Amino acid sequence: MEMNSRFLQACQRQPVDATPVWFMRQAGRYMPEYRAIREKYTLIEICQHPELAAEVTMQPIRALGVDAAILFADILLPVIPLGLDLEFAKGEGPIIRSPVRTLDDVRAMKPFDAESDLGYVMDAIRILHGTLGGVPLIGFCGAPFTVASYIIEGSSSREFLKTKTMMYSAPEVFHALMEKLSAVLSDYLVAQIHAGAQVVQVFDSWVGALSPADYETFVLPYSQKVLKSAEATNIPVIHFGTNTTTLLQLMKRAGGSVLGLDWRLPLDDGWKLIGHDRAVQGNLDPATLFAPLPEIKARVHDILRRADGRPGHIFNLGHGILQNTPVDNVKAVVDMVHEYSAVGIENP
Ligand code: CP3
Repeated sequence: MEMNSRFLQACQRQPVDATPVWFMRQAGRYMPEYRAIREKYTLIEICQHPELAAEVTMQPIRALGVDAAILFADILLPVIPLGLDLEFAKGEGPIIRSPVRTLDDVRAMKPFDAESDLGYVMDAIRILHGTLGGVPLIGFCGAPFTVASYIIEGSSSREFLKTKTMMYSAPEVFHALMEKLSAVLSDYLVAQIHAGAQVVQVFDSWVGALSPADYETFVLPYSQKVLKSAEATNIPVIHFGTNTTTLLQLMKRAGGSVLGLDWRLPLDDGWKLIGHDRAVQGNLDPATLFAPLPEIKARVHDILRRADGRPGHIFNLGHGILQNTPVDNVKAVVDMVHEYSAVGIENP
């Protein structure tokens, strides 16, 4: 059953009965079921209790009818065993109390072993294996650059000035940090695959802050290491970033059987830039979900028309679901995608 799921088929660019759809951040605060659990536990507590993480992973499966589950976790969890002191502060996003700024800071990062340091993540995957009933499970990690940006800045950032200052003024420190992170993240991703993740996604959410030349020098070799370690296990690997129009070809070279597209570029233009020898995932603007249904429908149909029935399209947003998104609109998109693509483009 799992092997025939339309999501896995699309990842492998095989024909499907209907376009598969899931959403980045499909579990989260826009869902009342999630808010109910969050009243009692912090984000990190949910992640560290495998039964809770598995339960939250299942919430959008039940509520939306999506074609894939994404493990409930966070790209910053590996920062905890590295000894950098992670906290999610109310209304502020992630805070890292011991940011990395020098070579000594890089060297002081603790050794990492995914199965013992983040065993709770693997336990959640093992629980989900029994409860998903054939819905494929996506594991994930952050790409080295996006994780490094939090570790260097100490929090979310707009300009990535500390990160770029390190890159341009102390490249040996930046490279040493990226080397360490690529080893940690490869180990983490492969451990998730061994625990039972059937597809993995590498989130390079903020890589669009870089020029192609800087991407090639400072990021590509390290992302490649993580992506290739996952690809060596022969499962589909999704490589995602935002603001990546000028980086897509380099990202393809770094790796991934599926490339994620944000909404800034029409899907067909993005797919052409990447080449039709890769699958693509995307790319509805998450803000569309706040529009009236006819407008949502027009935009969903536009994306499906651009995909043109070509095997290898996974419908998703161009980035994660936003807070306060109406759940009914998310559910409506799932139904629109399934109905439209099953009927075909002649009769939308
Ligand atoms: O449903 C899912 O997609 C799985 C769970 C998931 C979370 N984070 C849970 C979470 C996933 C895949 C992530 C990835 C993640 N985390 C990314 C990459 C994806 C992206 O959006 O670009 C990034 C950059 C992070 C780091 C992070 N975690 C930030 C910046 C924040 C704070 C911003 C915010 O939305 O509050 C988080 C917190 C976080 N991680 C929440 C969730 C559901 C927020 C909800 C809460 O606090 O309970």
